[in-house]
Amino acid sequence: MNASGPSSRFRRPVLVTVPPEIVAVSDYEPLARARLDDNAWAYLSGGTADEITLRANRDAFDHLSLTTRVLGDFSGTSGTQRTIFGQTFGYPILLAPVAYHKLAHDDGELATALGAAAARTGFIVSAHSSVSLEEIARAAQTPLWFQLYFKTDRGFTRELVQRAEAAGYGALVVTVDAPVNTMRNREQRAQFHLPPGVDAANLRGLPPAAAHQINANALCGGMMATAPTWNDIEWLRSITNLPVIIKGIVSPDDALLAAQHGAGGIVVSNHGGRTLDTACASICALPRIADVIEGRLPLLFDGGIRRGTDVLKALALGASAVLIGRPYIYGLAAAGAVGVAHVLNILRAELEVAMALTGCPTLEKINRKVIWRDCNL
Ligand SMILES: Cc1cc2nc3c(=O)[nH]c(=O)nc-3n(C[C@H](O)[C@H](O)[C@H](O)COP(=O)(O)O)c2cc1C
Repeated sequence: MNASGPSSRFRRPVLVTVPPEIVAVSDYEPLARARLDDNAWAYLSGGTADEITLRANRDAFDHLSLTTRVLGDFSGTSGTQRTIFGQTFGYPILLAPVAYHKLAHDDGELATALGAAAARTGFIVSAHSSVSLEEIARAAQTPLWFQLYFKTDRGFTRELVQRAEAAGYGALVVTVDAPVNTMRNREQRAQFHLPPGVDAANLRGLPPAAAHQINANALCGGMMATAPTWNDIEWLRSITNLPVIIKGIVSPDDALLAAQHGAGGIVVSNHGGRTLDTACASICALPRIADVIEGRLPLLFDGGIRRGTDVLKALALGASAVLIGRPYIYGLAAAGAVGVAHVLNILRAELEVAMALTGCPTLEKINRKVIWRDCNL
């Protein structure tokens, strides 16, 4: 494996050790920025339109205060392990599906999988990974789930599902919040393009989307006419024995529909602020969804997690586990697998401190009482 990332696309070599002044997840962002060109940076860091939701994801966490507790009994503490869909993770922080890791590092998803294994957690591989799902599975020493987008060609979608099953992936995460191309102005201004050597490795051979046979007034140039519906969730369930987790829900009504249509779990997410701008911060949606789901399905959460206290807040508001996106991508860009593992270890250590100071010896003890003041949830 190539640890130094010498590709000419990168402005600096990848770090091979982490300097001692890198102590917080946010310390990786300027390192990643300095290493990446404007093209990759626009794609990896950007959000949609004015990036109001991207900022809101973060700001909403900062406006949630915590209640500290003292003198509790921690003698029976059982650590931070969490089991979801039969897979046990060292702590409830997993790597979100993010496309094209080779934009951040020459080894792409192979370096990410190595970092996840070193830090003892799971990795959700994007349908648009830049290394094939089979190659990642062969190299990975850590639980993997596969993220899926419904392709217009359902035959191809079925094939992808079969490939993920054959390669040993433990769950399918179907992302439903991006049925149309969105207004990612930062990417548009940078004229973002995939550089040579970076492509969606799993989708090679996919025929170009068939010309839309509908009139010019149909929404979004016809994309909505062929977009998936709840019936496709049932179809997906019918072709696989893997749990089907639906990613990209913020509406309690949609959460109920997901449960009715047999979802195995939900990822409460607004795609990291990359789809509809001014959509609500995802942490503001989480407690409302937890209230209607009432523990019937595992809820995962992502969007704006940058601190262990954010993880604690999400668990308190109903998440079984959280996913991180940009933070580990910045770690990957700056320091490869070492950076990915370090980002995870920082968040895990911060979560443990937050649990200690809010009187929570176990994950099960984390509940809404740790939140002092909420964002009018
Ligand atoms: C560069 C980038 C690419 C992404 N690609 C995908 C993807 O292929 N599939 C998907 O379901 N979500 C994708 N996402 C969304 C993430 O899975 C996740 O929802 C989001 O990054 C969480 O927010 P955070 O970056 O603040 O942690 C992507 C996010 C980013 C930043």
